[in-house]
Amino acid sequence: MKNLLYIDGKWTGNNLSKNAVHNPATGERIAEVPRGGKAEAMAAVEAAYKAFEEWSDTTAYERAALLKKYYGLIIDHEDELAELMTKEMGKPLKEARGEVHYAANYIEWYAEQAKRIYGETIPTHDKNKRLQVWKKPVGVVAAITPWNFPAAMLTRKMGPALAAGCTVVIKPSSDTPLTAIKLVELAEEAGFPKGVINIVIGSSSEIGDVFLSDSRVRKVTFTGSTEVGKILMKQGADTIKKLSLELGGHAPIIVLNDADIDKTVQGVVASKFRNAGQTCVCGNRIYVQSGIYEQFIDAFATRVKELKVGNGMEEGVDIGPLINQAGVEKVAQHVEDAVKHGATIVVGGEQPKEKGNYYKPTIIKDANEEMLMMREETFGPLAPVQKFETIEEAIRLANDTPYGLAAYVFTENLSLGTNIIEKLDYGIIGWNDGAPSAVQAPFGGMKESGLGREGGQQGIDDFLEMQYVSIGI
Ligand code: SIN
Repeated sequence: MKNLLYIDGKWTGNNLSKNAVHNPATGERIAEVPRGGKAEAMAAVEAAYKAFEEWSDTTAYERAALLKKYYGLIIDHEDELAELMTKEMGKPLKEARGEVHYAANYIEWYAEQAKRIYGETIPTHDKNKRLQVWKKPVGVVAAITPWNFPAAMLTRKMGPALAAGCTVVIKPSSDTPLTAIKLVELAEEAGFPKGVINIVIGSSSEIGDVFLSDSRVRKVTFTGSTEVGKILMKQGADTIKKLSLELGGHAPIIVLNDADIDKTVQGVVASKFRNAGQTCVCGNRIYVQSGIYEQFIDAFATRVKELKVGNGMEEGVDIGPLINQAGVEKVAQHVEDAVKHGATIVVGGEQPKEKGNYYKPTIIKDANEEMLMMREETFGPLAPVQKFETIEEAIRLANDTPYGLAAYVFTENLSLGTNIIEKLDYGIIGWNDGAPSAVQAPFGGMKESGLGREGGQQGIDDFLEMQYVSIGI
């Protein structure tokens, strides 16, 4: 494994100062990675810019064949990638394996989709003209990816970009660069031409500055916080940068009186505790109708008590460590604030005895809007439950946030479910489903949760320019 930057087909950066990568389960230093900055980002952009001419000239079938080969290599290296991911990020090995497949599937899906980038013909108003819409790759794409899904967020951007004929410069999170480096190593093995894929790791501000200000970068695609997304929008204004932003969430889960308890508990656990609650689409506040409130909490608590906390490398672990101590402190602060405002801890509510960035999966009941955990994203294993009476009240509570990424509704009633969902301002809805993400479906949010969609047939549009051509004949 190289632990280096990859620019213009060469592994480089040995001469740079290094950033340590730590295992959040043990605190152990597991690698050192060069700390790139402005010069490396500029070199990578230059390489991607040079490579664009030839890469964009390949046929969709050539690009699809390479992407398919790349997909196969990712699958062949499932164990290695999953272990790297668990060691640098903390998620349990079984979840890491799931993420490797999820990541690989984006590459495979867009290999197929490359062949379906269709233009349009438009009925003409003039017998002597033919009107058409052609599709072209946008150009150099800079992809900034987060630590919580070190593989899938990268391939969700890289897959459609490469399929469309764009070249890419990747900047993964400095907390979890190892999975990304391995994925680039496999791309090299697959045979992508030099300059088509580049990776720089290091100073977010210096690298981000180059991405946003260099006019050769035609598009920046970012997954991360709303706070940083707003900064990127401002920085990109001077070059009218095309942006895709997948930002913060604060997902509501609405459980109606008629919900199927087993299905609901299963869905809520999947939504809330996946990746120890460190997922933008994780349920962050649970609204339960009064008729089912106590019954739901009992069943939910029984299931959550069974979840095993520990080092993700150990067999049977469900909840790994949080990424760092600040993550643990945020959960603790939300719990403390909730108790101070009158909520009751049902399960958890503390750190386990093991050393490391752990927090026990926690359920808190009798939550209300005054509490911090009901107003902002916790990004940890804390499940607050609030009682509601009417459907209007649930919709008001659910929409009362600047965010609009994912929401969940549990009801067996078709009409009620449909009416509620139509009123929810969220880009993704799980109806009796705690895990709606799928490579073939559009992922993205409304309001301050972002711009654009990733995945699915919609996910390639952001990497394509539309060119209207009027032909006189
Ligand atoms: C995210 O947290 O943004 C990604 C989650 C997913 O793809 O399901």
